Amino acid sequence: MSNPSSTSSGSSGSTSFDLPRFLADQRNIINKSLAGIIEREFDDSRLCRAMSYSLMAPGKRLRPILCLAAAETVECSDIRSDIGFPPFHDAMVTAACAIEMVHTYSLIHDDLPAMDNDELRRGQPTCHVKFDEATAILAGDALLTLAFETLSSQRVLAAVVQPDILLQIIGILSRAAGYKGMIEGQVQDMIAEGKTLDLESLKRMHSLKTGALISASITIGALLGGATPDQIRHLDTYARHIGLAFQVADDILNVEGDPDKMGKSVRTDRDRNKSTFPGIIGLEPSKRFADELINNALQAIKVFGTKADALSALASYVISRKR
Ligand code: IPE
Ligand code: IPE
Ligand code: MG
Ligand code: MG
Repeated sequence: MSNPSSTSSGSSGSTSFDLPRFLADQRNIINKSLAGIIEREFDDSRLCRAMSYSLMAPGKRLRPILCLAAAETVECSDIRSDIGFPPFHDAMVTAACAIEMVHTYSLIHDDLPAMDNDELRRGQPTCHVKFDEATAILAGDALLTLAFETLSSQRVLAAVVQPDILLQIIGILSRAAGYKGMIEGQVQDMIAEGKTLDLESLKRMHSLKTGALISASITIGALLGGATPDQIRHLDTYARHIGLAFQVADDILNVEGDPDKMGKSVRTDRDRNKSTFPGIIGLEPSKRFADELINNALQAIKVFGTKADALSALASYVISRKR
């Protein structure tokens, strides 16, 4: 995998892009917006406390950041004034937050005893450990539905985004999260436990389990940014490659990552007999495969020139990250 220190310059072709600063700024924007939603919508019930506990835990916010970076990449001149217009920017950030709600829900359910039975997530006890199993199931359900309530909110999104675009976005997110996307990936992951998948089946499982939501995040950002079908095609190729690379990196981190940095347990894949890239093709070949995927992703966004600097740096980050 790429050397972390070269992440912000090497592969992006831009020597000036400050990735650590960009990530910190974007996380700040997302976290503030999520905190605002919680402040406006939540009460002090056990359910709301559980939702807020998981949502505000220190996640990387990769999916919402990708969404915003995709919007910036395609931002076309006739809607540029809209993007700079504060309500429009708020709408984009709110849509990005809805994606983070879906992701957080998936983590809460993924950690449940009936699934991966994990006790640590984002550096803190998992939702069912901190609260209880029933509350964790319901907090996950509630975050998933809150995501769609947020997307369809009259106050923020519907006020500035064209109805046909908004409907498209809602459709994309529901399909990516649903039974032909992330849920199907989770089902395949469960079925595969204790079996050895062949490489193609492993790639298929991961492109659903992790790739679908990552791709949706990028397409949603692109649509909000006013992308043409051609631009969406390039971004989709980028997204499919970084989505798979993200999961290869996740498998590698599960083998050699530092649990303190990652905020979740490691070496669990081997204990649970999960099929993983290092398990099937070996650790070093997995790293080379991740590099190859990122190179393909970078190739796909070359057409955007320096406008894709953030996406380029994020591609390298996907495999150089330590958490
Ligand atoms: C973890 O996702 C779950 C996978 C899809 C592998 P992230 O690594 O993006 O988790 P957070 O959001 O930073 O906690
Ligand atoms: C989680 O995948 C994927 C979803 C939540 C959809 P994993 O189970 O492989 O990821 P971690 O290791 O728990 O984060
Ligand atoms: Mg899992
Ligand atoms: Mg898991």
